[in-house]
Amino acid sequence: MRRKLAAGNWKMNGLAADSAVVRALEVSHAAASVDILICPPATLIASLAATSEIVAIGGQDCHAAEKGAHTGDISAAMLADAGARYVILGHSERREDHGERDEDVAAKARAAMAAGLAPLICCGESLSQREGGETLDVIGAQLAGSIPDDVDGSLVVAYEPIWAIGTGKIPTLEQIGDVHDFIRKTLVDRFGPPGDAMRLLYGGSVKPGNAAEIFAVSNVDGALVGGASLTAEDFSPIIAALEAA
Ligand code: PGA
Repeated sequence: MRRKLAAGNWKMNGLAADSAVVRALEVSHAAASVDILICPPATLIASLAATSEIVAIGGQDCHAAEKGAHTGDISAAMLADAGARYVILGHSERREDHGERDEDVAAKARAAMAAGLAPLICCGESLSQREGGETLDVIGAQLAGSIPDDVDGSLVVAYEPIWAIGTGKIPTLEQIGDVHDFIRKTLVDRFGPPGDAMRLLYGGSVKPGNAAEIFAVSNVDGALVGGASLTAEDFSPIIAALEAA
């Protein structure tokens, strides 16, 4: 049985005062039956990790190198040292804003695993790829290129259609199921039993009002939530829907 995972991606949001969101989640989900993860900006990782027991803390990116002359970047070992347990890699905003290619994501994933972090690797098609019927080809190529060969079952994959991120639009439940079943088969074909252990998250406009129906879809083991993870009022019911699924 895969343990379900409710993951929040705060993106470039969150000041010290927003630590209160994580504290509120710690209280309201003290006996959580699912894993809860918040990926705050790097500036908050150490303080949140030091004060959180229920909520795991993760990074939003890391550099592929162990250390060195890379101004402004952060290594996987630094994230782990600050208390992070996961790191989001290959988010579409990184792929678009920073030109990250599949091979860069794979190199970062290797660095993350070497530092003891679970990589949370994102994939997803654009609207024109969806409309052109290319979705599964795009996802297949991203998985092949972004996931290194020597991974274990702690790897997490998030399916995030780019056109659903921050737009309020979500694919049909059938479309989500088709992609998640395809990802599962691809991972099992390539990795065997570890591919069956990897958690598959859906991401893109997950809200309290649509979470339960998404969590009922086959091979959806949780969600990667952006906007609705910024407040406990929104994220808490999403966690509760996952616990009930
Ligand atoms: P959203 O973002 O929930 O705000 O659509 C999801 C994500 O980009 O991870």
